[in-house]
Amino acid sequence: VSGNVTNICCVGAGYVGGPTCAIIAKQNPHIKVTVVDLSEPRIAAWKSNSLPIYEPGLQEIVEVARDGTDGRQPNLHFSTEISKAIDEAELIFISVNTPTKLAGVGSGSASDLAYVESAARHIAEVATSDKIIVEKSTVPCGTAESLREIFSGLADPSVKFHILSNPEFLAEGTAINDLLEPDRILIGHLPEEKAAADALVNVYAAWVPQQNIKTINLWSSELAKLAANCMLAQRISSINSLSAVCEATGADIDEVAYAVGLDTRIGSRMLKASAGFGGSCFKKDVLSLVYISETLHLPEVAEYWRSVVEINEYQKQRFTRRMIKRLYNTLSRKKIAVLGFAYKKNTGDTRETAAITVISQLIAEGAKVAIYDPQVSENQIIHDLQSANPAKNIKDSITIYPDAVSACSDACAIAILTEWDQFKTDLIPAPKSQPPAPVPQLRNLTLEDSTATSSDLSSASSDAGSESPEMSAAHASTPLSTPPTEDALEGKPGSER
Ligand code: UDX
Ligand code: ADP
Repeated sequence: VSGNVTNICCVGAGYVGGPTCAIIAKQNPHIKVTVVDLSEPRIAAWKSNSLPIYEPGLQEIVEVARDGTDGRQPNLHFSTEISKAIDEAELIFISVNTPTKLAGVGSGSASDLAYVESAARHIAEVATSDKIIVEKSTVPCGTAESLREIFSGLADPSVKFHILSNPEFLAEGTAINDLLEPDRILIGHLPEEKAAADALVNVYAAWVPQQNIKTINLWSSELAKLAANCMLAQRISSINSLSAVCEATGADIDEVAYAVGLDTRIGSRMLKASAGFGGSCFKKDVLSLVYISETLHLPEVAEYWRSVVEINEYQKQRFTRRMIKRLYNTLSRKKIAVLGFAYKKNTGDTRETAAITVISQLIAEGAKVAIYDPQVSENQIIHDLQSANPAKNIKDSITIYPDAVSACSDACAIAILTEWDQFKTDLIPAPKSQPPAPVPQLRNLTLEDSTATSSDLSSASSDAGSESPEMSAAHASTPLSTPPTEDALEGKPGSER
C-alpha cells in the first residue's frame, strides 16, 4: 500500500458518494477520482449541468473538479464502466445504499447489505492489483468482517484487500460545509492495516486539520456512525415527546428547547420539535441498532431504541390529528395546503419524509391536498404518495402547485412540513407605499383564526409544539433574553451545523 494514492474509485453516485468525491477531487488535484454507478441516467446527470441531487454549493465544486473551470486539469470523472474504474484504482469507496430489509431474516429492521455485497463481489471479481477498500455507507457493526470473507472467498489470492471503515457524517442540505469543515473524520482499521489507514488520512489531510482525523478500531468506527445517528434521532424524539406535554400543559416547546439547550452539557442543536424526523438515515439506523441488539440477546436495549422510532410515528400522527381536530373533525372536500415535501430544507430528497405520512392521513380523511415544494418534482411527489396509498388513485386527492401562494389560495389550513426559508416570506405581500391590505388568498387559511398573519400561520399550523394562537403570541412577550423567534416560524429545522 502506498502512502499517497493517486487513483480513487467510488462505487455509488448517490447523496453520499457524489458530494464526498467532488470535495475529495477538488481538494486533491493530483488524485484522479472516478465515481461509478449501475444507473446510467444517474451518471448522465452527474456529467450534465443538472446534477441528480440538489445540494447548495455542489454545482460549483463539481464544475471545478469535473470541468477544470479554475484552469486545473479535470480530475473528477463519472462513469458506468465500473470494472475499469475498480481495476485502475488504488483506493475504492463503497458508497451504495443500505436500506432496511423488507423480507427475510430481520425484515423491517435489519439493514439490507445486498448492495454492499454485490459491490464487494464486483470488486473481488475484477481486481488485479492490491486495493484499499473503504466502507463509506452506514453499515452494521461487523460488516468489514463480511467484506473480508467475500474477498478471501472470491478474489485472486495474490491480490490483497485492506479494509477500512470511514463513515460519512454529512447531513443533506449542508453537505458541502459538513465536508469542508467536518467535526471529525473517523478512520477505523485493524492494527495490521495502519499503512492503509495512513494513505486515507493523507487524502483528508489535504484540507482537514490532522487533529480532526481520528484513526480508531475498525468495529468502533462502524458502531460510532450508527451510534451518532441513533443519538441524534433520540434527541429529536425526546423533544417531540415533550411537545406533546407542552400542548397538554401550556408550556411552549420552543422556549423549553431554548432553555434546555442553554445547558452546555446538552447544547442547542437538534432540539427543534418537528412533525417527525425523516431522511434516509435516522429511522433505518435506529432500526438497525434495534436488530443488532436483538441478535445480541439484549431485548431491553432493543426496546429502548425501538421507542425512538415509535415516538416519531406518534408525532406524525399527532400532527395530523391536531389539524383534523382544529378543522371541526372533518376534512371532507376541504382544501388543505401543504408547503414542503422534502424531509428537510435545501434538499430535494423525500426519503422517509413526514409529508408522506401526514398527506396520506389527510387524504384518508377526504381532504383535497394542495402541495408545493421548491425542489421536489411533481413526478416524485405523485410517485411517493401513490406508493404509500396503493389502493387509491392519488391524483384524485392532490394537486401540485408551482408556488406557495397559489397552493394556499382558498385553503382551509396550511401545513408547513419543510422549513424552506422562502416560506417565511412567500405569503407576506411585498411592501407597498401604503400599509398592505390583507391578502384575499389568506382569508381562510388559518387553523387558528381567520385574521392571522402568515407568520402566525407558520408557527401555529406547522409546529406541533404550539397549541394555540395565545401560545404563538407568547413569543412576543417572552421573558427569555434571546428567544428563538426566527425558529418559531419553522415547522421543521434542518441540521444546525
Ligand atoms: C443525518 C445526520 O445528521 C448526519 O450526520 C448523517 O450522516 C446522516 O443522517 P440528514 O438525515 O441529512 O443527516 O439530516 P438532519 O439534519 O440530521 O435531519 C434529519 C431529520 O431530523 C430531518 O427530517 C430534520 O427535519 C429532522 N430534525 C433535525 C428535527 O426534527 N429536529 C432537529 O432539531 C433537527
Ligand atoms: P446514499 O444516500 O447512501 O448515498 P443513494 O441511494 O443516494 O444512497 O446512492 C446509492 C447509489 O449506489 C445508487 O445510485 C445506486 O444505483 C448505487 N449502487 C448500488 N449498488 C451498486 C453497485 N453494486 N455498483 C454500483 N453502484 C451501485
